Amino acid sequence: MNVKLRVWRQKNSETEGRFETYEAKNLNPNMSFLEMMDVVNEDLTDAGDEPIAFAHDCREGICGTCSCMIDGKPHGPESGVATCQTYMRTFKDGDTITVEPFRAKAFPIVKDLVTDRAAFDKIQQAGGFITVRTGAAPDANSIPIGKEIADLAMDAAACIGCGACVAACKNASAMLFVSAKAGQLNLLPQGQPEKDTRVLKMVAAMDEAGFGNCTNQYECSAACPKLISEEFISKLNRDFVGATLRSAVKAKPL
Ligand code: FES
Repeated sequence: MNVKLRVWRQKNSETEGRFETYEAKNLNPNMSFLEMMDVVNEDLTDAGDEPIAFAHDCREGICGTCSCMIDGKPHGPESGVATCQTYMRTFKDGDTITVEPFRAKAFPIVKDLVTDRAAFDKIQQAGGFITVRTGAAPDANSIPIGKEIADLAMDAAACIGCGACVAACKNASAMLFVSAKAGQLNLLPQGQPEKDTRVLKMVAAMDEAGFGNCTNQYECSAACPKLISEEFISKLNRDFVGATLRSAVKAKPL
């Protein structure tokens, strides 16, 4: 199959970008989208042109680095998959496919399709962890956790931090990401001691990074390659209100 690509090319965050058109020819429909990009880049390199910069690592839907917009949708037209799990058979022979970076103030463009998503790392570092003593691994099941809660925590833990939620949101809100990362720990007994500080610090880091507010459109969960539910956002809001009240009570002078 053959397709035409309209790809966003931009040297860095300081320069202006533009769409360039490329032909991708003789493709196997079972190639992944990234393998198709590899073919285009080989042709560009052979012709002495600069290859298209795009981020990737695992190519198995695990790492969340392969983030880009395909035909206006984060990770492309298919639901519940990352760009690296999108196959060319999704498209038709002769299609023109538009590829561009995730667009959000908090995700500056590094080059072409590559964006800097370190803002997510800063949110995670602000509270997305539990403080435990290091040493020998504890025995399995030493803290029994009900299946319902364990399943819910696993659903939240499926977030790969790709940023599709931010790219899909008209406000560039990171609420789905933050709610998943806080939620996976806040649901479990191990996460309780730091629950309030976790929520307050992660939300503060999110605001500081310049993400927008959530207005409950839920484009985020529709675009999420891991189908993280918007219900985690409601849970984060409840946890945030509780943490704010408890910290206000603690701060009140006797
Ligand atoms: S390259 Fe790792 S999720 Fe796509």
